[in-house]
Amino acid sequence: MRADGGVFKNDGAATNAPACEAAENGYNVNVDVWRAVAKRLELDLRSEIGKTMKKRLLTGLQPSGVLTIGNYCGGIKQVVNYQNDYETFLFVPDMHAITVPQDPELLHRRIREVVGMYLACGVSPDENHIYIQSEVPQHANLSWILECTAYMGEMSRMTQFKAKSEEQEKKKKEIGCGLFTYPILMAADILLYNAHVVPTGADQKQHVELARNLAQRFNAKYGETFVVPEPLIPTVGAKIRDLQAPEKKMSKSCENPKASIFLTDTEKEARKKIMSAVTDSGEGVYFDEANKPGVSNLLTIYSVFKGITIPDAEKHFENARYGDLKKEVAEVVCSFLAELQDKFAETMKSGIVDETLDRGRDYARQIAEETYDKARRLVGFGRV
Ligand code: TYM
Repeated sequence: MRADGGVFKNDGAATNAPACEAAENGYNVNVDVWRAVAKRLELDLRSEIGKTMKKRLLTGLQPSGVLTIGNYCGGIKQVVNYQNDYETFLFVPDMHAITVPQDPELLHRRIREVVGMYLACGVSPDENHIYIQSEVPQHANLSWILECTAYMGEMSRMTQFKAKSEEQEKKKKEIGCGLFTYPILMAADILLYNAHVVPTGADQKQHVELARNLAQRFNAKYGETFVVPEPLIPTVGAKIRDLQAPEKKMSKSCENPKASIFLTDTEKEARKKIMSAVTDSGEGVYFDEANKPGVSNLLTIYSVFKGITIPDAEKHFENARYGDLKKEVAEVVCSFLAELQDKFAETMKSGIVDETLDRGRDYARQIAEETYDKARRLVGFGRV
C-alpha cells in the first residue's frame, strides 16, 4: 500500500493508480518514488562535491525595504563576481527583518522580490543555493547556543545596534531585544554552513568579526566545530553614501526619499536624485573622502557601474564640473537599472523564484541539520 492509499502495480492489481506510474525495463515503478530517490542522491552528491571541491561563500540581504544600489555594490555584485569560485549560499534573512516593525503582507512580497533581484542581477539559480532563512529552523536553534556563547560587553559595542537604537529612541519607540541580539543570529547564519568567506559592505564587517570570535570561542571550548569565516569587503563600493547626507551610508530604510537609489527606481526618479545629490564646496572632480565625501561618492558609483578603477574615473573627469559628473553618473546608473528591471520583470513572471527557493531550502536544511546536530551534541542538548 502507498501512503496515499493507492497500491503499487507490482503489489498486485492497482487500484486508485495515478498517471505517474510507469513501466520500465519490465518493472512497474512509481515515478514519485524514483524522483524522491534521485533528489536525495543529487543532494548527497552536491553535498559531497561541496565538501571536497570548493570553499564556501555565504551572504544575505534583508528584505526590510527595497534594495538600493548600495546593497548591490556591497552584497549582490560580489556574489555575482565570486559565484564560480566558491560554493555559494545566498539567502534572504527574513528573521532579521522583524528586528524592526514590518507589515507581514509586505514582508512576504519583499522576500520574493529580493530573490527576483538576486537572479536579475546575474546570480545563477542553478549553481548557487538560494533560500529563505526562516525555512531552515536550525538558524534560530544555533543562534540560541551562540547567544549563550556571546558576552553582553561585546554585544554592547556593536555600532549598528547603537545607531539603530538611537534612531528608535529619537522616535520615542521601544528598542526590541532582537535589535540587540541580531548579530548573533547573523553569526548562526554564517557558522551553520561553515562559510569560509562572507562578502558584505563595510557596515557588516564588525558583525562578521563577531561571528569569527564566537566560532573561535566555541571551538576552543568544545573542539573544532565551526569554520572561522573571513569578511570579504570590496575595495571600491563598500560604503555607498546617502546622496543627501554623504557622511552616512545609503540605506534602504532611510526616510528621505532623495537619499537612496532603489533598484526599482524609474529612470526619471534615479536621474532626479543623482542630479540633486549634495556635492562639496570648491571645484575639481577627484577622490577625497574626508574633504569631498559627496563627489567621492559619485565617483565611486561611477567607477562601480562603469567597471573601472577610481584613478581611471578621476582621469575621465579631469577637467569636468560637478554637473558633468552628475550627468554621467545618472547615465551609467540609469542604463544599469533599465536592463536590471527588464530582467526582474521577466524573472517575477516565470516560476523560477519558487523553484529556486524550494531547491535551495532542501539543500540548506541538509547542511544546517548536520552542523546543528554536531553543535547540540557537543553542548549536551537532548539525547546522544
Ligand atoms: P543589509 O540587508 O543591511 O545589507 C545587505 C548587504 O548590503 C550591504 N550594504 C551596503 N554596501 C555598500 N554601501 C551601502 N550603502 C550598503 N548598505 C548595505 C551590506 O553590507 C550587506 O552586505 N545583517 C545583514 C544581513 C545578514 C547577513 C547574514 C549578511 C544577515 N545574516 C549573514 C551576511 C551574512 C544586513 O542587515 O544587511
